Amino acid sequence: MSFCKITKKKLKPFMSFGQMPLANGFLLKKDFNKEFFYNLETSFSEEISLFQINDHPKPKQMFNKHYPFFTSSSKFMIKHFKKYSEWVKKFLSNNSRLIEIGSNDGTFLENFKKLDIEYIGFEPSYNVFKIARQKKINTINKFFSTQHIYNLENFKKKTDVIVGSNVVCHIPDLVDFIKTVDLLLSSNGTLVFEEPYLGSMYEKVSYDQIYDEHIFLFSITSISKIFRSFDFDLVDVIPQITHGGSMRYILKRKKNRNDLGKVKRFIEKEKKLKIDSLEGCLQFKKNCEMSKNKLNETLYKIKKSNQKICGYGATSKSTTILNYCNIGPELIDCIFDTTKEKIGKFSPGMHIPIYNYKLFRKSNYNNVFLFAWNHKKEIQLKEKKLKNINWITHLI
Ligand code: TYD
Repeated sequence: MSFCKITKKKLKPFMSFGQMPLANGFLLKKDFNKEFFYNLETSFSEEISLFQINDHPKPKQMFNKHYPFFTSSSKFMIKHFKKYSEWVKKFLSNNSRLIEIGSNDGTFLENFKKLDIEYIGFEPSYNVFKIARQKKINTINKFFSTQHIYNLENFKKKTDVIVGSNVVCHIPDLVDFIKTVDLLLSSNGTLVFEEPYLGSMYEKVSYDQIYDEHIFLFSITSISKIFRSFDFDLVDVIPQITHGGSMRYILKRKKNRNDLGKVKRFIEKEKKLKIDSLEGCLQFKKNCEMSKNKLNETLYKIKKSNQKICGYGATSKSTTILNYCNIGPELIDCIFDTTKEKIGKFSPGMHIPIYNYKLFRKSNYNNVFLFAWNHKKEIQLKEKKLKNINWITHLI
């Protein structure tokens, strides 16, 4: 039995992905016997339409000094954050204040450095925080929480924009998160965040979005319900193509409500598609099982014909696919990746070796599991000289 992280009411898990290691826990051979595992189970609160994982590792275990995710590892994402920052500027004027939560290596905040505004980023992982600091981007090496804002007098009730990307779904104590926002946001301030979208996950059966860091998979209905009880209104939503389908949520304090017609229309659509109810989860569960069987069939068929298979992009998402489907080095020889913190290590749980992506071009793999499927365009462009590649994914 588990409890909803918001309502604190009992929830019955509807699915288990089995024993899981840390999604970003790429490790050396000498550490195989020390590896941490937990049971990856999912529940759904019908009251607030919230898709969530149950038992999960503590944030400090995941966001530490060896966090191997760097926003700037994708050119497309750098461009995306540039465009996003231009869009955010409409909420700012001279001397405005802006806070980014989970500012990573400063890719987004870099766009505000030259403006006449006061800004600050919160980044708990020391190694990525250090990169932002080297770029002279104001960053605090802390989690965004009520405990860590005591010396931010200048920002309290005076912040015009609080922004986050792929971060709010990582915060287990959402109530404390909303309280922190409430302490910092000005009366007409705007809270903006974009996160992987539950509707896109259902549509693509991209169950690899479910892993320890993604404690919640949000929908428009869930965000609207959660924030409403804290006197915030969801005033707008903008679908994004990033991370295989995300949603940008724009929230204001209640008294600043405009016409909420657009949001209402999206909520009605979610109702029709059963994104707001347990029924949607149960259909998704069936689809995951189907995807798992199909994927194993595909991989075994290739192996039976004496062909080799490699992976491309040692994403955190791939940890769920590999461990849930029980795919190890007997099926996939290695995974090519650009991240120096991952190269030379092994994938969490299934222990597939990670090699430098530059070796991919020199290898002769024709069957390539594209774990970084959300970067398909960027990767296929990079590797366009290679012909006859059979790009494989688990997506339905
Ligand atoms: P991403 O889907 O952004 O992240 P997540 O880990 O959250 O699932 O994938 C990032 C990984 O993909 C990272 O290890 C770097 C790798 N990658 C490449 O190897 N080549 C590329 O061209 C890109 C864009 C990413």
